[in-house]
Amino acid sequence: MKQQIIDLLDKNIEGMTAAEIEPLLEVPPKPDMGDFAFPCFRLAKTMKKAPQMIAQDIKEAIGEVDFLEKIEVAGAYLNFYIDKLTYVRSMVEAASGEDFGSSKEGEGKTICIDYSSPNVAKNFHVGHLRTTIIGNSLYKIFSKLGYKVERINHLGDWGTQFGKLIVAYKKWGSKEAVEEKGIAELMELYVRFHKEAEADDSLNDEARAWFVRMEQGDEEALSIWQWFKDISLVEYKRTYELLGMEFDHYTGESFYRDKTDEIINLLSDKGLLTTSEGAKIVDLEAYDMAPALIQKKDGSTIYATRDLAAIYYRKRTYDFCKCLYVTGQEQKLHFAQVFKVIELMGNEWAPEQLVHIPYGLVSLEGAKLSSRNGNIIYAEDILKEAIGKIKEIMDEKNPDLPGKDEIARKVGIGAIIFHDLYNQRIKDVSFKWEQVLNFDGETGPYAQYTYVRCASILRQAPDFSFGGDIDYEVISDGASVDLLKELVRYPEVVKQAAEKFEPFMISRYVIAVAQAFNKFYNENRVNVDDKKVRDARMSLVYLTGKIVKDALELLGIECPERM
Ligand code: ARG
Repeated sequence: MKQQIIDLLDKNIEGMTAAEIEPLLEVPPKPDMGDFAFPCFRLAKTMKKAPQMIAQDIKEAIGEVDFLEKIEVAGAYLNFYIDKLTYVRSMVEAASGEDFGSSKEGEGKTICIDYSSPNVAKNFHVGHLRTTIIGNSLYKIFSKLGYKVERINHLGDWGTQFGKLIVAYKKWGSKEAVEEKGIAELMELYVRFHKEAEADDSLNDEARAWFVRMEQGDEEALSIWQWFKDISLVEYKRTYELLGMEFDHYTGESFYRDKTDEIINLLSDKGLLTTSEGAKIVDLEAYDMAPALIQKKDGSTIYATRDLAAIYYRKRTYDFCKCLYVTGQEQKLHFAQVFKVIELMGNEWAPEQLVHIPYGLVSLEGAKLSSRNGNIIYAEDILKEAIGKIKEIMDEKNPDLPGKDEIARKVGIGAIIFHDLYNQRIKDVSFKWEQVLNFDGETGPYAQYTYVRCASILRQAPDFSFGGDIDYEVISDGASVDLLKELVRYPEVVKQAAEKFEPFMISRYVIAVAQAFNKFYNENRVNVDDKKVRDARMSLVYLTGKIVKDALELLGIECPERM
């Protein structure tokens, strides 16, 4: 409707383009002032006439329009009153489209998202859960906007720590224990290494030697490393499966080990490398940053070097228009340095295309979380506990529900994801079970329940199908119109969430729709005898269910049909 009014004004005002009109068009503060208002002050200057007179002239030039109930001149403003039924119809039609919410803005463009990325031989902890959940949601959001998205798991699977682990395994470990206890055993070996190395520094030399063997392609070293990696991946993939999430590439740090030489040569050719205490660095003092370490004294490369190589590889392989990195905010400096070095290497696209997406800490205060291993917390345990708790509630409230296990998984996981994505990324998340699993608050289960309710209402009218004639008069009451107004906001919300890399905008939106739906449902009986009334209201129920499910999908949350 807004566009139609812009077109009307464009046609009837001389010397002003649609692009100039658009930002001036306002939504009046009170409904009795119309649906849109256009101020004529600016025209007064160019036309050298009083704004009231200009408003009057435009009104007369426009004349009668079928979608407008009336146009009024109020001081310097032209107030537009949209014909209610036309308005309601236009909103229903907008929200009906199969691809409502999607767009073509990303067509032909690729975005890389680097997220999750746990460190091999270490537990997948709650921080990794956040990057996984946020990254996955960004993947869904950008896909919705037409982008091709490469989901990249940049595993921490290379570095001196693996030398230590091999030493510890050879000295104190056993094949059986690693096979049986997996990551927990590897972590114990790692801890033991550090304890023993405090008393015996030669262990550190041994560890370095093993890592050098790894870097040189030594078969024995690499086969132990690969085994540790396989064992870790089995556990990570269990977590991804519970979450219902996947990746396109498991290209971790080790993938770039033969690609760092090129970077070092490039840096050196461009005169960017300096030597400091035997190590090679890029000086970043001019940018108020600590120097970026590129190569250690012993010739080994580090995390940052592999990140530089990864950017070259991804640019060449995927030709991305953006590469996003979802990690905790403690890596802010690391990414600022890496991005700056890439820019200094002559890639002027770097500041625009490389984006660090930081998030706040997760605190587990007040939540009693099970853990296998002292205070080491595994994300998998939290997910399982959420599912278990939902199952308990369902056993109590709805014991005969078919397919309970799968429903409990969707609701339990949905609760965790929603809670994680309900605030701005940068805010810390404090985790309390009663808050996460509450069915009435602003939570995942509550959002899913809105969809389930719509599905159940629709089941009560098996002869209804969306798409027939709708009597718009029936749904032009306040609560119905308010619900429609929420529904049609969806595409704009998706766009903004993408622009700001903020999935929370979508979770907030879902709650707003849920609340508007409640009000609509309390004020209007849906399943009534009068078929015209029933079908019009059923259409709103249908649209609400469809959009809530679609929006939750963008967060990575699946909707059960019943719960
Ligand atoms: N493995 C790292 C961690 O657990 C995250 C890696 C992020 N991605 C990257 N390209 N540096 O903290």
